[in-house]
Amino acid sequence: MLHSALLNVMIKAARQAARALKRDFGEVEHLQVSLKGPANFVTSADRRAEQTLREELAKARSGYGFLGEEGGRTEGTDKTHTWIVDPLDGTTNFLHSIPHFAISIGLQRDDTIVAGLVYNPVTDEMFTAERGKGAFLNDKRLRVAARQTLADAMISCAIPHRGRGDLALGNRELAAIQPNVAGLRRFGAAALDFAWVAAGRTDGYWERNLSPWDMAAGLLLVREAGGFVTDMDGGDAMMTKGHVVAGNEAMHRDLLAILKQVAKG
Ligand code: IPD
Ligand code: CA
Ligand code: CA
Repeated sequence: MLHSALLNVMIKAARQAARALKRDFGEVEHLQVSLKGPANFVTSADRRAEQTLREELAKARSGYGFLGEEGGRTEGTDKTHTWIVDPLDGTTNFLHSIPHFAISIGLQRDDTIVAGLVYNPVTDEMFTAERGKGAFLNDKRLRVAARQTLADAMISCAIPHRGRGDLALGNRELAAIQPNVAGLRRFGAAALDFAWVAAGRTDGYWERNLSPWDMAAGLLLVREAGGFVTDMDGGDAMMTKGHVVAGNEAMHRDLLAILKQVAKG
């Protein structure tokens, strides 16, 4: 498939970072049995991946700013463009040798995400989107699922756990959604949660306490696949508020209605 110059830059950077990440993932399996565990090793794998992405993206677009989970923000000479990067989304999965993690690269122009890439190096699934040009998995055009009722829907989410935001609220949300859906999943990599909604594998997704690098690429994937994404108030401030609801029009509407009800108390 012929990609735009911009997507080519992003794909090349992701593949470069993924090579080391995949090697490191192999190593993590061995480290599970050591007393110290693989935590430190994973932290440095994460940092190395971000460094590679930073360098590769800068080679092709030297003036762009960069916001990465590990290294924070670097202003560019071009004030309109910023890469928003999570070098390893799904760290806890990676740490436990679970092959569900991804590199996420979003490109923001002014306040709009104009390109996004989510890549799982283990499955070699490359999800890409450009604003106005559709979303793709490798070479296949993506479309969100068509299911219309929550009763048939498979929804992904986060499960409240230690150190993660408002546990009581999270539990109330789960309790409200559970009886209404056909399946609930906590996969553990937000970027892939978005990508899977875009691919029609899941019908919807909601989560609180996300950071811009968890969302930037994913938001665009869902929208370019014909889906809806908003914050939990139904607005467009996902990147600043850090909470999201996604799905096709019907799933998004019904999930949002339940979540709003829960938030009212
Ligand atoms: C996390 C994952 C997880 C989500 C968390 C994120 P990380 O990112 O996306 O699915 O529930 O909110 O922080 O730490 O693995 O990059
Ligand atoms: Ca993340
Ligand atoms: Ca991360």
